[in-house]
Amino acid sequence: MFARSATLKALPRAGRSFATQAVRFAPRVAAAAAPTSSPLSRRKVSSSSTAAADNKEAPFAAVREDIQIPYPDETEYKPGELGHSTDGPDVDVGRHTRRTLASFSMTDKVCVVTGAGRGLGNLMARTFAESGSNAIAILDLDENLAKEAANDLVQWFEEHGQAKKGEIKCIGIGCDVANEESVKASFKQVVDTFGRVDSLVTAAGIVENFVATEYPGDRFRKLMAINVEGSFYCAREAAKDMMRRDAAGTIVLIGSMSGACVNIPQPQTPYNASKAAVRHMASSLAVEWAQKNIRVNCISPGYMATALTRVILDRDPELRDAWVNLTPMARLGEPEDLKGACIYLASDASAFTTGADIRVDGGYTLT
Ligand SMILES: NC(=O)c1ccc[n+]([C@@H]2O[C@H](COP(=O)([O-])OP(=O)(O)OC[C@H]3O[C@@H](n4cnc5c(N)ncnc54)[C@H](O)[C@@H]3O)[C@@H](O)[C@H]2O)c1
Repeated sequence: MFARSATLKALPRAGRSFATQAVRFAPRVAAAAAPTSSPLSRRKVSSSSTAAADNKEAPFAAVREDIQIPYPDETEYKPGELGHSTDGPDVDVGRHTRRTLASFSMTDKVCVVTGAGRGLGNLMARTFAESGSNAIAILDLDENLAKEAANDLVQWFEEHGQAKKGEIKCIGIGCDVANEESVKASFKQVVDTFGRVDSLVTAAGIVENFVATEYPGDRFRKLMAINVEGSFYCAREAAKDMMRRDAAGTIVLIGSMSGACVNIPQPQTPYNASKAAVRHMASSLAVEWAQKNIRVNCISPGYMATALTRVILDRDPELRDAWVNLTPMARLGEPEDLKGACIYLASDASAFTTGADIRVDGGYTLT
């Protein structure tokens, strides 16, 4: 971890503010120093903190166990907070008159997004509308949230002149992705409404805040049921519909950079394991279904500034600095940064891409 910090400080384009942040972060990292016999020192990872490295009493841990990420209660979100912007001066949403690559269009595609009541899934559902889809299903554990999100989506595009009245149909469905029967019933509802599924994005997922030694078994099982089994059940139902019609289709599983690296200062080990499973599930399903023309890919976001993370980081600016400092691009991702990867993988633009993992992490996993 110290090598990472030193490398970041040496980045030529990091800029003044980034260097300042790296200096501020240094003492925080130093406190996390592993003793000389730690796995890090055995791997000859150098430390800039001799004081901490000399501390023979330091705990045998490579992370800061005192760092607890205070996940806020959902009541703390602002009402109607989506976690991303759909309008505003810098966002060019909707119809375009300029030339653009037609293969990126989602016109005439039926798109399903899980966990789309809010957060990144909600952004992706809206991005499908923005990219031409007129048939979208929002699946979420919270049925009311799903229905509201579906109404809001249609209303936004109509009110902003980006769709005629009735042009976009978006349905909200209550679905527990961890429950096979619930997933089957939800996909049946989609097919009954729209006739088929062309594209699926699985954004339903949870993360919880326990150190490994205190992680309750039932919570681990719940996390795996949502993040791993949920992705599988949804991918399977979408693929079955595509196979039934002998039609091509796309599936995008939302992983995390934590499935490809161990994020510090506080890794969430069961979450990381679940996202590694999601990433490999995409590779495996990609091979299994390649000749059916069903492409399965993964997007692995880095630290994104969603509604949830904004509340956490507003409370803990030091943690914000830590996340920023560990990211070579020296910022958190905006949810909007995921739009391009989502549409690329869901559309014909990626016609020969399957089993890929696109990391949208500002370079975090490279260092
Ligand atoms: N936010 C980040 O920084 C970040 C980074 C990397 C990966 N991710 C991944 O992106 C995905 C979306 O994250 P987010 O930040 O938007 O989270 P979020 O908590 O804002 O949204 C997740 C949505 O999933 C729904 N959900 C939870 N359990 C469900 C279940 N059993 N069935 C159906 N829906 C369920 C929730 O109701 C919620 O609407 C997750 O898989 C997450 O692991 C997020």
